[in-house]
Amino acid sequence: MTTLFPLPSGRAEFVPSVLSADFTCLKRSLAPVRRLAGWVQVDVMDGHFVPNLSFGPGIVSSVARASGLHVDAHLMVERPAGFLGAFAAAGAGLITVHAEAEDAAACVRKVKALGLKAGLALRPKTPVSRVAPLLKILDLVLVMTVEPGFGGQAFMPAMLAKVAAARELVSRSGRKIWLQVDGGINAGTAVLAAGAGADSLVIGSALFSAPEPAAFLKGLRKKLAAPGCAFHG
Ligand code: DX5
Repeated sequence: MTTLFPLPSGRAEFVPSVLSADFTCLKRSLAPVRRLAGWVQVDVMDGHFVPNLSFGPGIVSSVARASGLHVDAHLMVERPAGFLGAFAAAGAGLITVHAEAEDAAACVRKVKALGLKAGLALRPKTPVSRVAPLLKILDLVLVMTVEPGFGGQAFMPAMLAKVAAARELVSRSGRKIWLQVDGGINAGTAVLAAGAGADSLVIGSALFSAPEPAAFLKGLRKKLAAPGCAFHG
């Protein structure tokens, strides 16, 4: 990937999560939405941190090739330290580790040392204050709006206050840090999440189950760009 990983631009970006894509032909799944997405997310699950198993580093290069977009690797992994190099080598442009994972802060520093963008994710129960010590080096904060582990879950509206609190922290940092939400994003919850201050919205099942994913995503982008759609300050 020759271009740099995108920086926050004051406009909401949608990030398709391939967890819900058709793996019999990733290219066909991603082609209709590639020009409408900020980048693509690969949800990595280890069966320990979350009760599900998903992909290894190899899928990152396939998704990057199939989409022509940057890839963010969301590591729902108990001990991420030993995998960071492999995801970097596979072509991830941004790696997000969970604040609840082992040695999370050291992993964030290692991702930066690898020359990648670094994200820190928070389970629903983890307070937003956990990101404060790392705001000086983070490129993305991920507020989970479902319990991590599976696609197709219902959005947790109680997380909106946490998104707003995270927006406050990120804006006060004076740094260009994405505020990402992930879980249960659809036509209704996207507006709520953006209104609370999220500018990166991960979307999986609602997108890939839509009869016309491209038209669906175009409609969502239009909705968020509509006047009066409180996006974020
Ligand atoms: C959960 C995953 C999902 C996925 C998005 O661990 O992180 O949230 O990316 O799935 P949907 O959009 O189907 O909720």
